[in-house]
Amino acid sequence: MTKTAVTKKILITSGDGIGPEVTAQGVKVLRAVAAQAGMDVTLTECLIGGAAIDATGDPLPADTWAQAQTADAILFGAAGGPKWDKGDFYQNPGKGLLKLRRDLKLFANLRLAKVFESAIDASPIKPERIRGADVLIVRELTGGIYFGKPRGRREEDGVQLALNTMVYRDWEVERIARKAFEIARLRGKRLTSVDKGNALEVGRFWRDIVERIGQEEYPDVALDSLYVDNAAMQIIRDPLQFDTMVMGNMFGDILSDAAGNLAGSLGMLPSASLGESHALYEPCHGSAPDIAGQDSANPMASILSVAMMFRYSFDRPDLETRIHDAVNTVLATHRTGDLMAEGKTRVGCSQMGDLVVQQLEAA
Ligand code: NAD
Ligand code: IPM
Ligand code: MN
Repeated sequence: MTKTAVTKKILITSGDGIGPEVTAQGVKVLRAVAAQAGMDVTLTECLIGGAAIDATGDPLPADTWAQAQTADAILFGAAGGPKWDKGDFYQNPGKGLLKLRRDLKLFANLRLAKVFESAIDASPIKPERIRGADVLIVRELTGGIYFGKPRGRREEDGVQLALNTMVYRDWEVERIARKAFEIARLRGKRLTSVDKGNALEVGRFWRDIVERIGQEEYPDVALDSLYVDNAAMQIIRDPLQFDTMVMGNMFGDILSDAAGNLAGSLGMLPSASLGESHALYEPCHGSAPDIAGQDSANPMASILSVAMMFRYSFDRPDLETRIHDAVNTVLATHRTGDLMAEGKTRVGCSQMGDLVVQQLEAA
């Protein structure tokens, strides 16, 4: 019996600022790797973020939402920029992404801070402190202070106030803890949980649950708990102590940007947002308005997000490794401005995408 090739349907939502520039490079790599592997992919482009607000008034138009629900995987770029900063808060560009995360139930955001040996000179941290660092931050993505209620702005007793609520339910912490333990088991069998349990009820609650799940279900994984302020310091000072980390939504947002320094630039950090039946892949960085439209952004975060797509959505970790190897080889000689160092050739965003594709085809 001949096996029929299954077509993978991928939704491309490149968004704003450098989003379209870097996503175009991710797409080049996606097409090249899929062709080499004999995988059939169809790509559909839809609007999101500020571009969608301009065209339809909505950061997540109905058509984008419909396509997202039926896609095998989504590749997202970035949303936001000064043009929309003063607009309606409830229809701001980031809300499109937040709705996708929440409504597709993408509760686990895996953010990979990996030091590529060939670009070790680009990090602001001393090479001996980061050589071999490979930290996977598992960020809870559909709960915590981002979505907790009550929230809003109002007047109370003649005083204007605004509030958000950090709330976690037991099943939310259990679900992300199990996901992180499962991932840690396949990596270095070391998990660091991050909380603020010395000051916040939700932090002590988080720690109690993660430690219980660890003892009862994952005794083979070494678990450590750190307070978030200490974790922010340690991740820069001594990242080699970390393998897999797990934390709530807000702490994961902040610590992952800090971890961008390990790889030399925020432009190197990819992510996978996973749920039970959907997956979205996106750089950790934003729309970088300061460099948008110049073809100078680093496209590696998008390219490495495509690598994560091959691993997590298409069960092809070998293709993720292929992309990592190509990235490592190209960075030995060519750099975008954010990683520039003496003796390297400076290239733009689009040329960097071409170089990675050429390397993949030569390998
Ligand atoms: P940012 O991540 O866009 O930029 C921070 C700094 O990192 C800037 O100096 C930028 O030039 C640099 N940088 C980021 N990505 C880079 C890349 N690929 N190559 C080279 N340099 C890169 O964060 P910001 O400036 O705080 O936010 C800008 C806009 O993006 C805001 O509207 C924000 O809301 C939005 N944002 C969106 C996302 C997302 O869509 N996932 C994430 C973060 C911020
Ligand atoms: C990220 C971004 C988003 C977040 C914004 C755009 C809502 O900073 O993906 O890291 O805070 O999660
Ligand atoms: Mn962020």
